[in-house]
Amino acid sequence: MRFLSVVSLLVSSAAGIILQNGQVRDEHYPDTKIASLSTNSNGWKTYGANATEISYKGRWDSKKISWWAAPGIKFGFTGDKVAISFGQHTSPGVLVAYRLSGMDWQFTNVTANSTHQFISPSTPGLNETQSWQLPLTFEMRVTNWGLGVQLSNVHVSSSSKLIKLPDYGRRIEFIGDSLMAGMYATYEAISGFAFNTGYGLGNTEFSITAYPGICVTDKECWGNPRGQTYQWFQTSDTSGRAAEIYGTKPERWNFKKHPAADLVVINIGTNDNNTHNNVTNEQYLSSYLKLVGDVHEVYPKAQIVIMSLWEGWYSVGNMWYQNKGFEEEIFQVYQHYKGAGFVHYFNTTGILQHNDNGPGYHPHDVGHIKVASHLMQYIRLKFGWEFYQTAVEVQHNTLYWNSGK
Ligand SMILES: *[C@@H]1O[C@H](CO)[C@@H](O)[C@H](O)[C@H]1NC(C)=O
Ligand SMILES: *[C@@H]1O[C@H](CO)[C@@H](O)[C@H](O)[C@H]1NC(C)=O
Ligand SMILES: *[C@@H]1O[C@H](CO)[C@@H](O)[C@H](O)[C@H]1NC(C)=O
Ligand SMILES: *[C@@H]1O[C@H](CO)[C@@H](O)[C@H](O)[C@H]1NC(C)=O
Ligand SMILES: *[C@@H]1O[C@H](CO)[C@@H](O)[C@H](O)[C@H]1NC(C)=O
Ligand SMILES: *[C@@H]1O[C@H](CO)[C@@H](O)[C@H](O)[C@H]1NC(C)=O
Ligand SMILES: *[C@@H]1O[C@H](CO)[C@@H](O)[C@H](O)[C@H]1NC(C)=O
Repeated sequence: MRFLSVVSLLVSSAAGIILQNGQVRDEHYPDTKIASLSTNSNGWKTYGANATEISYKGRWDSKKISWWAAPGIKFGFTGDKVAISFGQHTSPGVLVAYRLSGMDWQFTNVTANSTHQFISPSTPGLNETQSWQLPLTFEMRVTNWGLGVQLSNVHVSSSSKLIKLPDYGRRIEFIGDSLMAGMYATYEAISGFAFNTGYGLGNTEFSITAYPGICVTDKECWGNPRGQTYQWFQTSDTSGRAAEIYGTKPERWNFKKHPAADLVVINIGTNDNNTHNNVTNEQYLSSYLKLVGDVHEVYPKAQIVIMSLWEGWYSVGNMWYQNKGFEEEIFQVYQHYKGAGFVHYFNTTGILQHNDNGPGYHPHDVGHIKVASHLMQYIRLKFGWEFYQTAVEVQHNTLYWNSGK
């Protein structure tokens, strides 16, 4: 029985307002924009976007333009200020999350051709003499899945320097659609379950190649020109801004130049499972088998977790029921590769119950946290990945739907 036309993943406007129990949340992000800094302006030292001290997280292209969900940067530094210049391929008003060392996330909107100062002598936690953990670190993440930034320069105080930070010793690649990209969650990608899992585990590198509306099958779905069997191999995503810059010839992602993932988590098919996109069960199954085979070729040592899908709820009489998406096909993918030992089936049935979705037919923040918590525990029990007590904030301003006193 399918009373609701499942999840409507139509990509509408990328920059959304934040809703809190149905009300618009009044958000005022501090304005961090400063006058543009020329190279090594008085009091500043300037590094180019190619500086080896800057670690790029997620997918960035050769022009240092960010793509997909929650891409970011991280580096260590000395001194008492950090500013970043953004290039012309930065989306208008894109919201970025940033923080100093283990302090909580801060937010600010940035735009093209501008310089923003994120750290100044008055930033809480900056005092090096009081800090037990040095060097100071700076990290920044793009919150939206469809907007991006172009990094031009990083500036620190003139007598200071950037410091290369070593990567953590374990790495996850997430492959998915809007559910993984955190669509309609408070801070979108950085409120989604993939981000919550990656940061929640602690001391883990991760990349989220997920985009709303995308199918695994290589065809046009909800305006995305290609599916993940093709797009996952590209640096850029399926957005209009990628088409504007690269047309139909995106830069291929050079897997050899980046460390291999130890674990790959895939949640894909909700869009293939929508009649709007005309994907047959056979096409879905063969596309999923191909994706898993291709991922294994790229990362021969990685374990691959495939998640069963959860879809919208419908009510009949006095009960709610959950729609299923390609339940048999996903299990068949697992069975196909079972003998080889690197594919694992994560049955998500029952993690989400009715009302764990927000009004946009996607999990609200707490729904994402439920999925992430179970996925984290699954990863711990299955692969022995311990949780690290890093104590840093993962979810910022979590929205507890209908929460009362
Ligand atoms: C970074 O280096 C690469 C390879 O040398 C070059 O193609 C690219 O233009 C540089 N990008 C920036 C932003 O400097
Ligand atoms: C940014 O600068 C470039 C090059 O000068 C220019 O073409 C572009 O219109 C500018 N974009 C914005 C949003 O100001
Ligand atoms: C800042 O980002 C938020 C979230 O994307 C957006 O709703 C808001 O319009 C942006 N503000 C500006 C001034 O661009
Ligand atoms: C940093 O902390 C030390 C020790 O508490 C204090 O003496 C110093 O004034 C602080 N520096 C700044 C810039 O706040
Ligand atoms: C799906 O098929 C219908 C009927 O053949 C066609 O009109 C529609 O354009 C197709 N949609 C997509 C997204 O392929
Ligand atoms: C979606 O998946 C369900 C459960 O496997 C299946 O019954 C249904 O035919 C699928 N629908 C589409 C449009 O793919
Ligand atoms: C997933 O879990 C549900 C609930 O326990 C169960 O009914 C279903 O058979 C499981 N699916 C598979 C493929 O094991």
